[in-house]
Amino acid sequence: MYLGIDIGTSAVKAVLVGENEALLAEAEEALAIARPHPLWAEQDPQDWWQATVTVLGRLRCAAPRAFAAVRGLGLSGQMHGAVLLDAAGDVLRPAILWNDGRAHAECAALARRLPTLGHVAGVPAMPGFTAPKLLWLATNEPETFRRVARILLPKDYVRFRLTGEAVTDMSDAAGTLWLDEARRDWSDDILAATGLTRAHMPRLVEGTALAGSLQATMAQALGLPAGLPVAGGAGDAAAGGIGIGAVNDGDAFLSLGTSGQYFVTTGSFRPYPEAYVHAFCHALPGRWFQMAALLNGASALGWAAKILGADDIGALLARTEAAFSGRPARPLFLPYLTGERTPHNDPHARGVFFGLAPDVTREEMVQALLEGVAFSFAEAQECLAHAGTHAASVAAIGGGSRSRFWMRLMASALERPITLYSGGAKGPAFGAARLARIATTGEDPAAVCRTPAVAEMIEPDRNLAAAYRPAFARFKRLYQALKSEFR
Ligand code: XUL
Repeated sequence: MYLGIDIGTSAVKAVLVGENEALLAEAEEALAIARPHPLWAEQDPQDWWQATVTVLGRLRCAAPRAFAAVRGLGLSGQMHGAVLLDAAGDVLRPAILWNDGRAHAECAALARRLPTLGHVAGVPAMPGFTAPKLLWLATNEPETFRRVARILLPKDYVRFRLTGEAVTDMSDAAGTLWLDEARRDWSDDILAATGLTRAHMPRLVEGTALAGSLQATMAQALGLPAGLPVAGGAGDAAAGGIGIGAVNDGDAFLSLGTSGQYFVTTGSFRPYPEAYVHAFCHALPGRWFQMAALLNGASALGWAAKILGADDIGALLARTEAAFSGRPARPLFLPYLTGERTPHNDPHARGVFFGLAPDVTREEMVQALLEGVAFSFAEAQECLAHAGTHAASVAAIGGGSRSRFWMRLMASALERPITLYSGGAKGPAFGAARLARIATTGEDPAAVCRTPAVAEMIEPDRNLAAAYRPAFARFKRLYQALKSEFR
């Protein structure tokens, strides 16, 4: 039995997985984001901890015997967040998240200071990453900056509470901008450029390595075995890949959760910072990946449902599908509600509906929204192609992939077949449980990270794909035309 816990942005999710990989129990607890100022996005690490305790309590109730017999625990989490601890291990301020855009001026300063940064850290400086946030803190909250003794990533804060140890794994460290991705070690030069040293950083381990064990007091409080091994785990992008077996060179998938990622595993470190592609360490030793990271995924649909007063997103999608004429929606939607990373590196970008007419219905606007997110993935695919990566077909995971309708539009926008796996949208928590298994048993990662059975292949619709081409070109021109207006 293995436990996987994912510290997501909209929820903490946990799964209890059997020896045969059957899902024995799962639980989820919602989280809120605070946006106290324009461009800011924060969460209180204490909320992650509380939610973790809550979901573990639910798993314990759902499957008490299996829970008490767990052999290993793995963690996954939202990447890039800055959790700041003082010398006593107390949290100094709310965590600054992956979709926070405040540190844009600091990114320009870092890029000037370290011209080769993108080729070492695998990606150019962008505000969502951890390092520029610390530069922002040094200027804007110098008192707090002086008290920072340790910087952790979100899942590693939960690990710190569970095991008492400050440890991170390569795939999450990869998103800090402090990691030398080729050497899989902290870069002293980049740390120095942000006024920090290795002493501020957690210990680095591979995702498949043991990274500590559950403290006795925690074991007692949570009802888990004392000394339970805790694996290195992974950032949510890499953990998603582990969960569906995207571990070999060329394996590609898109993840449509709160954010969106177009992820391709690579057998070597292949940076291409020019297109804002992220070249990061994977959660397996000797593997890397290239990823286009979109800040606005299924969260855009969640926003629309909220302002439309549609409590049931499934029903909203069903109405949209029923009204679908087989042609692209007339309005275009730019999904950049929280700015965008790949391909624009623009924290100031915002969402846009363009081309409204008196007879445009709410269903057509929702279709435009689904297409806007699909075009965003199509642009991500172009960035990866510039970086030399061409995926013949892609798998899809994440909450948004549960909509067959959205996946049909997506396949046509990408002009690629989309593979859906059986067993639902296997997410990062499942990948984290697999990493726990590898770390605990020493099994061959290739044997554990298998590809699930294919439930369905969604082929692009030829006519729709052809009709999307001019709409996609217009989508790209629309951002360029509006770019200067977002500031
Ligand atoms: C990846 C990214 C997001 C977060 C939150 O670069 O920023 O996927 O990990 O899910």
